[in-house]
Amino acid sequence: MLYPIPLLNLALSFLNIFLPSSDVAQHPHAKPTTNNTLNFRLRHMHAATSSAHIYFADVLPEASSLANELTLIPSVSIGTSLVRTTRPPSQEAFTTARHMSKHGQNAWLDWEESEVLGPDVTRRETLLLLAKMTGNTYVTPGSNGWYNLTDKWNVGMPVGWEPDDDGFRGYVFATEDNSTVVLTIKGTSVPIIGGGPTTEKDKLNDNLLFSCCCARVTRGWTPVCGCYRGDWKCNQECVETALIDESLFYPTGVNLYNNITSMYPSANIWVIGHSLGGALASLLGITFGAPVVAFEPPGERMASQRLHLPSPPSIHHITHVWHTADPIAMGTCTGKLSTCGIAGYAMESRCHLGNIIEYDTVTNLSWSVRLTNHPIATVIEHILSKPWPAAEEKGLEVPKSKDRTIDCFQWEFGNFTL
Ligand SMILES: *[C@@H]1O[C@H](CO)[C@@H](O)[C@H](O)[C@H]1NC(C)=O
Ligand SMILES: *[C@@H]1O[C@H](CO)[C@@H](O)[C@H](O)[C@H]1NC(C)=O
Ligand SMILES: *[C@@H]1O[C@H](CO)[C@@H](O)[C@H](O)[C@H]1NC(C)=O
Ligand SMILES: *[C@@H]1O[C@H](CO)[C@@H](O)[C@H](O)[C@H]1NC(C)=O
Ligand SMILES: *[C@@H]1O[C@H](CO)[C@@H](O)[C@H](O)[C@H]1NC(C)=O
Repeated sequence: MLYPIPLLNLALSFLNIFLPSSDVAQHPHAKPTTNNTLNFRLRHMHAATSSAHIYFADVLPEASSLANELTLIPSVSIGTSLVRTTRPPSQEAFTTARHMSKHGQNAWLDWEESEVLGPDVTRRETLLLLAKMTGNTYVTPGSNGWYNLTDKWNVGMPVGWEPDDDGFRGYVFATEDNSTVVLTIKGTSVPIIGGGPTTEKDKLNDNLLFSCCCARVTRGWTPVCGCYRGDWKCNQECVETALIDESLFYPTGVNLYNNITSMYPSANIWVIGHSLGGALASLLGITFGAPVVAFEPPGERMASQRLHLPSPPSIHHITHVWHTADPIAMGTCTGKLSTCGIAGYAMESRCHLGNIIEYDTVTNLSWSVRLTNHPIATVIEHILSKPWPAAEEKGLEVPKSKDRTIDCFQWEFGNFTL
């Protein structure tokens, strides 16, 4: 049995470090060298409660420009490029294919290929600005407060939304003409949904999604589902059922995306996320064909398979950005003595869906692997804010890489009985 350790909470609160404002003078933004840019303004904040209700708050133009100043985004002008994407023909078709796959049937989906305007992920400046948009802002809701999209009733601050709380929340940016919308999802630390009294449930969900077999790390752990069959064997169907029954992670993301679509019906939507928010962004990219950039995400390929999301013929519209000293993105925050293990989390998955940009901070900056290297602020301040010599040597602005291919290699999954 594991008990929460207060020290660890301290360590986790590191994950939410705001950017020091002294940085403003040191890193003025160079103007992008091409004119293929879009200008975004912060429009809304979003937050979800532990019961997965999604709330929005409008950001008034004055507050928006103040927020932009404080978060070092004087003008959010993002470099774009055409991105080839594949979308399911409809949400109904996608859901049907998903349900058929759950029942062992193969469903054919008539994926639609198209080219949309996406972020230019070959440019360092683009990644830097997207990372900043995903970081913290100091805005508080305007006079309208928080509202339910459906009934527009004003409410107080939803549970799980305090400036330094780790809820499932983020921002919505849009161009002046509403043609392109950027949805950011912040999940700086576990848990992603809620906080306080719901933490145990969230921990359970994360462990279902990103651990090999119900977070059964050692004999001393209380697993979050009963699928372990002894001797590194795990019942696959059992894990999938547990995930579908318990996890609000993916359905909440789908609701959020649909909410944004109903606010901006004809917009091209990008989804940008950090950490668990990045993993969720990627799953939404698979589901909706939206261009995605995920910073420091845990491996979400296994979660996608366990959720039976139909795989699109191409996943190049999804880009992952991480560095090698981050144990969450590397899938090495495992074992009972790791920081994650001590907190009762097993972040064991390592494989991602999409293109990979990997900063080898372990080799090139001699960093050691630790959880305090995971925050978006680390990525912004110490990685993306200056040129990366190892990439420039190859004539690139960002270091492209390949992903790992095997998750949970020591486990056997199948129809094992007890
Ligand atoms: C972009 O720059 C090119 C060459 O400098 C110019 O011909 C073109 O009109 C510009 N496009 C826009 C939208 O400003
Ligand atoms: C918005 O999200 C809520 C969940 O918070 C969901 O019940 C509702 O159907 C969504 N609205 C739209 C228009 O998609
Ligand atoms: C928000 O909407 C949901 C259903 O859409 C409802 O259950 C909930 O009570 C509403 N919350 C508030 C505070 O109005
Ligand atoms: C863009 O969307 C906002 C709602 O967020 C709306 O108030 C505004 O009128 C829209 N602007 C245009 C040009 O459609
Ligand atoms: C960075 O590390 C790679 C090995 O991963 C090495 O090949 C490269 O020379 C290093 N570059 C710099 C600038 O340190």
